[in-house]
Amino acid sequence: MTGLLRPSAVGRSPVRVDGPAKVTGRAPYAYEQPVREPAYVHPVQATIARGRVTAIHTGAALALDGVLTVLTPENAPHLERGIDPELEILQSPDVAFRGQLVGAVVAETPEVARQAAGLVRIEYERAEHDCVFSADRTDLYRPEVVNPSLPTDTSDGDVGTALRDAERTVVATYTTAMTHNNPMEPHTTVAVWDDDGLTLYDSTQGVHAMRESVAPVLGLDPGVVRVVAPYVGGGFGSKGTAHAHLVLAALAAKRTAGRPVKLALTRQQMFSLVGYRTPTVQRVGLGADPDGRLTALSVDVVEQTARIKEFAEQTGVPARKVYAAPNRRTTHRLAALDVPVPSWMRAPGECPGMFGPEVAMDELAQACDIDPVELRIRNEPETDPETGLPFSSRDLVGCLREGADRFGWRRRDPRPRARLEDGWWVGTGVASSTYPVHASPGTTATVRISPDGRYEVLIGAVDIGTGAWTALTQIAADALGVPAEDVHLHIGDTDLPEAPVAGGSSGTTNWGSAIVAAARSFREKYGPDAGPGDEHTASTAENPFAQRYAMRAFGAQFAEVRVHADTGEIRVPRLLGVFAAGRIVNPRTARSQLTGGMTMGLSMALHEESVFDDRFGFVVNHDLAEYHIATCADVRSVEAYWRDEHDPYVNPMGTKGIGEIGIVGTAAAIANAAHHATGARVRDLPMTPDKFC
Ligand code: MOS
Repeated sequence: MTGLLRPSAVGRSPVRVDGPAKVTGRAPYAYEQPVREPAYVHPVQATIARGRVTAIHTGAALALDGVLTVLTPENAPHLERGIDPELEILQSPDVAFRGQLVGAVVAETPEVARQAAGLVRIEYERAEHDCVFSADRTDLYRPEVVNPSLPTDTSDGDVGTALRDAERTVVATYTTAMTHNNPMEPHTTVAVWDDDGLTLYDSTQGVHAMRESVAPVLGLDPGVVRVVAPYVGGGFGSKGTAHAHLVLAALAAKRTAGRPVKLALTRQQMFSLVGYRTPTVQRVGLGADPDGRLTALSVDVVEQTARIKEFAEQTGVPARKVYAAPNRRTTHRLAALDVPVPSWMRAPGECPGMFGPEVAMDELAQACDIDPVELRIRNEPETDPETGLPFSSRDLVGCLREGADRFGWRRRDPRPRARLEDGWWVGTGVASSTYPVHASPGTTATVRISPDGRYEVLIGAVDIGTGAWTALTQIAADALGVPAEDVHLHIGDTDLPEAPVAGGSSGTTNWGSAIVAAARSFREKYGPDAGPGDEHTASTAENPFAQRYAMRAFGAQFAEVRVHADTGEIRVPRLLGVFAAGRIVNPRTARSQLTGGMTMGLSMALHEESVFDDRFGFVVNHDLAEYHIATCADVRSVEAYWRDEHDPYVNPMGTKGIGEIGIVGTAAAIANAAHHATGARVRDLPMTPDKFC
């Protein structure tokens, strides 16, 4: 690495490159791609949770004017098996969860396709299903296998003895609800087969990742599959991995003989087909001396996965990283159920995993009679508690102190249930926040000079609404030493150089590092007098510092909560977060990411809960009328600040990632504030009014 980028464009707040096209309705999202004479696909979903299809009656659907074909397990094109069970649709009559794809109608219009899908009659042979999640489903426990880069369990010292001997202890169980990603733009795919192969216009977080996932399942060489994602209306992780509808669109297009097909999932279909956050049960143990110094820390997690495909939420992971304690343990156990496949949702692992431990820290502060900000500062580790590596930079303490100052924490009366204003109990709370710095070596970018003399930068990145388009343009401008207006960035297409997903808060790290590498070597190769036609491509190497430093962003979340004394109605008039997340490339778009994450944390704290009916195996409140997401009236003052942090080890920009840390810790800060307001300790999310009565 040749030192940090010298910022000129970076650190400013130019307006979004894609802003004008979006606000004037000229930005074509995937479904709006102008293809010739498209047909429309509407999925047919299983209405049992387990068993097999014994007959599909398609006559009524096929008789409808405008229906082109009905795909079923009996007639669907062949897919490769044994690669990804979530994607291997319509290959067998087996039903593994309610809502799984068992067919699809292709028709002249979306309306006809939908009507016909309702006319497809299916007979099933039902099998006993098991969708009952609870902490004691030990019969269904299984070791996690899908996230093998992190250990399932960790252990240091002797937590049991240390907890028994501790002078102050908190041992409690915390739960977070099943929640569903609900990006504004639903999941959509337009599929086109032609002589060159398959093109998928997809609402996705990663074009190359989609291609790598679907090509082998379709039995295709990735080279003949093109994925294009020009504009994307949010994903939050649900568009970070390929889901069944992407394969369905490709299968349907195979049947229409060259005619393009369009598929848009309905909001209700999203509740079984595009992933969700597992419910979690977190048994947390904290032991401390009377001064609040932790002697023991344990987090034992139980969560669910689907029987057909394993996904392990890494809920115990953040507890490995935040506080010092000589005796420590984290464990994960999964109950494999007949349920839809869980997946990424904003800050997987970290988000639910900083709820239990951060509420427990509040309980410990009370048990020790220590201010909760001070308690956290006292347990600041010298090095990464898990690995012993030094942190490349770590400023949790600075975030806590600055946050306390900005929030007015010093004026706080520590006693719970001490402030009643106009019938509302008022309280304040704090929690820590953290998110890792992820990096994917091998990210590639190209820099060239176009015939009109502008710098073109090419990379298969995707802007899912984060501001990546703008931030990468700024990074490219600084790396080339030219004004941002001279840079033309091309993203969102597998025809562009290979790049990983917009996920893990790593977009800027990966894509920015590749752009810097390409720009620097372009400059070295051509000097300042480069001209039209000059071109250079470069890929990122393994960060040599990754093995020598622990790399994470940190933050502190502060919340004010009001709980109505009679009704238990809970309101959050104020959230304030201070983050230490490396260099901030674009304050305008960064603030939006951070306040957006905090808002989603507020939503998780108060509203979001997928109510799963385990008798039938589906989410009952599977629409935005009944799955409550915070609306404008719920969101009052949300302030995000950041510390000036210069980290020379993370990447050439000095960035750490900001897409996810905003949601981490927010719910705990709100729960802690609710306890301070009312004296009621709520350990289960969401904090609905009944929990205060
Ligand atoms: Mo994020 S859940 O890594 O898209």
